[in-house]
Amino acid sequence: MTDQASDKRVLLIVGGGVAAYKALELVRLLRKAGVGVRPILTKAGAEFVTALSLSALSEDKVYGDLFSLTDEAEMGHIQLSRSADLVVVAPATADLIAKAAHGLAGDLASTTLLATDKPVLMAPAMNVRMWLHPATQRNLETLKADGVSFVGPDDGAMACGEFGPGRLAEPPVIFEAIMEALAGPAAQSSKRGPLLGKHALVTAGPTFEPIDPVRGITNRSSGRQGYAIAGALAKLGARVTLVSGPVALPTPFGVDRVDVETARDMLAASQAALPADVGVFVAAVADWRIDEVFGTKLKKDKGGPPALTFVENPDILATLSASGPRRPKLVIGFAAETNDVEAHARAKLARKGCDWIIANDVTEPGVMGGDENAVLLISKDKTERWDRAAKDAVAHDLAQRIAESLS
Ligand code: CTP
Repeated sequence: MTDQASDKRVLLIVGGGVAAYKALELVRLLRKAGVGVRPILTKAGAEFVTALSLSALSEDKVYGDLFSLTDEAEMGHIQLSRSADLVVVAPATADLIAKAAHGLAGDLASTTLLATDKPVLMAPAMNVRMWLHPATQRNLETLKADGVSFVGPDDGAMACGEFGPGRLAEPPVIFEAIMEALAGPAAQSSKRGPLLGKHALVTAGPTFEPIDPVRGITNRSSGRQGYAIAGALAKLGARVTLVSGPVALPTPFGVDRVDVETARDMLAASQAALPADVGVFVAAVADWRIDEVFGTKLKKDKGGPPALTFVENPDILATLSASGPRRPKLVIGFAAETNDVEAHARAKLARKGCDWIIANDVTEPGVMGGDENAVLLISKDKTERWDRAAKDAVAHDLAQRIAESLS
């Protein structure tokens, strides 16, 4: 990819918004991969990042003023719009999206978008209300119909204090989307080969079981292994639904993410995602929840520690593994163990009725919450011991095995 990318060029339009600083990291990633970046900084964008930083990181001139005679003499805006292989807008503000949808051309960024004959990829970022506003949603539909692609936005806490969709996708995710777009349709379809037309359901992260409005029970799962698997399955062409507990991770490119908190919500979202060809249940689901969640914050002056009673949560893996017409063809569970890994995992395989268990020893340093994993793949008739590897590599190998099994 890097070799092919080294002769590619991106025209990067940086719009205004708090997230504009992430454009700098994006430029760094692109340059590291050998992609040429020519930035256009809008007037609003220049309120958030400087032309100097963009220029230093891109090692190119930063364009900004439509009416600069020198630039027009050196490079007209028409030529600028066509000198790249891909036009990227990050962050794409509500204003830029609206201008592009309506064909307005009042400044260099919008003129470029109107004049270009190259593919356009936008990474939107805006306040959640602006994103959900029917006008923005209409504009998105128009642009999608015009062939513009989108990456993000993510769900989460926003700089404006609100919560919801509208956060700029993380730079590594935008970077991946750019690399896919630069690889071109032929490369994309060959890459998507083995799992094209298949639907994968992946659960990931911890669950959060509330005690009262401000407290709850959760665990240390980072979600990394599940997210890596979701991303690896998408890379092989699968349509992926990722049902995720609360984690601080960007959504992998090409993955549909459904955010949940409790085990019961995770079960409902997983059932709603069926039918699926494969289910990979990586989430660290809380086995127990509080019987009755307190409606108001527990106070310590109420006579000693509260007596909490617990009830068992539904087992998502066992429920979806149970035979029936909606059972995924291949059901894969994970087992995080601290001792007798193989024996416990094999017992789990039988108890939960799944086809494979990926077992790991979480006492190994760097596994729980870390970047590496050393796993056993346990099926009914055999046990495979995989070498310790980065979670991304484990995800890639597992996705390959899934593709082979479903073919
Ligand atoms: N799992 C699930 N729903 C639950 C509990 C676990 O879907 N309520 C899934 C996990 O996603 C994982 C597998 O079951 O794929 C095993 O999880 P683990 O926590 O190791 O198993 P438990 O059944 O909780 O067994 P124990 O805690 O006794 O080891």
